[in-house]
Amino acid sequence: MTLQVWTHCDIATLQAGHAAPYGLIKDAALAVEAGQITWAGTRNELPADLAARVTHEHDTGGALITPGLIDCHTHLVYGGDRAHEFELRLQGASYEDIARAGGGIASTVKATRAASEAELSAQSLKRLRALLAEGVTTLEIKSGYGLALEHERKALRVARELGRIQPVEVRTTFLGAHALPPEYTGRQDAYVDEVVRMLPLLHAEGLVDAVDAFCERIAFSTAQTERVFQAAQALGLRVKLHAEQLSDSSGAQLAARYGALSCDHLEWLSEEGAAAMAKAGSVAVLLPGAFYFLRETKLPPVALLRQHGVVMAISTDCNPGSSPCTSLLLMLNMACTLFRLTPEEALAGVTRHAAKALGLSDRGVLAPGMRADFVLWDVGHPAQLACAIGANPRLQTVIEGELV
Ligand code: NIG
Ligand code: FE
Repeated sequence: MTLQVWTHCDIATLQAGHAAPYGLIKDAALAVEAGQITWAGTRNELPADLAARVTHEHDTGGALITPGLIDCHTHLVYGGDRAHEFELRLQGASYEDIARAGGGIASTVKATRAASEAELSAQSLKRLRALLAEGVTTLEIKSGYGLALEHERKALRVARELGRIQPVEVRTTFLGAHALPPEYTGRQDAYVDEVVRMLPLLHAEGLVDAVDAFCERIAFSTAQTERVFQAAQALGLRVKLHAEQLSDSSGAQLAARYGALSCDHLEWLSEEGAAAMAKAGSVAVLLPGAFYFLRETKLPPVALLRQHGVVMAISTDCNPGSSPCTSLLLMLNMACTLFRLTPEEALAGVTRHAAKALGLSDRGVLAPGMRADFVLWDVGHPAQLACAIGANPRLQTVIEGELV
């Protein structure tokens, strides 16, 4: 049995309730056995019985170790790109104008449907590699650009396959209720029927870990969203929601009633919404990339979230239209500069709280019994990860105790 120990390092454990900010342990040792952390603490307190059994010692040369980063909200698998819409927006068109004119999500649906599984995989792999290069070890990928059984299946299969061929755990989310596909124009409820029909079929194929919807005036109503949630609930699947991104639809209250893992975006979240999320234990997933790229001016109500004790996660929202972003480290910076999160809140947002947003209790902090997913960084202090713009100080990534 191997017992590895990482030494000559500082560890930002991100453990809740730890005395030091970031759960920081200076001059630490991190012991790993069978893919799990068995001990984390100050090096000179490493128990003698453990020290005697160490088979591999990794002297990091003074690295900072954090939990592996978790990107808990992405639309990473899609065909085509939307650079032309970026040009249109620079000429004055809004995101909603473009969506209403048949562009937006619908244009990505066209390109995604046209792509073969292999093409979709090759295009998505490039984005995934960029995320992994910055220390992402767990990633959520949503469907929602297929909007028909065979194409939703194709995207979810690609997402699962990416998790098999790359050193990362992929969690898949069915987002059939993302937009109305063109063949259903004027028949919104009929499309919701179709979403409700697709879900159990895809779930039976092992392709669905959770269910999401886009509740918005340019997408689905709360009543339609609720039908999707009922279908998820019937299968025992957890839900989450794109809520209050462009307007307040009270989606957060609805999601909370269904025990949502998270409500995401939330720029227009009301006090009632925040209170409902707190009661349900739903995580607020903030997406500074979309806020920035759409040049939104309404900030998510961070003070309200703090006041109600709603924990915040941060994610890339990697997608072609509102956040063509493959840098979770940049999102750390933007969460602080744009949303005024502290660097500690931001780092918890891509580790401990991102794990919670995915319903995963075995990762996101460095503590005994947790998965040994962690990243070694060439920085002197964890705040540097959020402070830098465009730097990538990652040295190494370890997943379940294995260097990748
Ligand atoms: O998270 N809000 C809905 N969905 C995506 C954008 C999708 C797109 O524009 O392609 C989002 O922002
Ligand atoms: Fe999104």
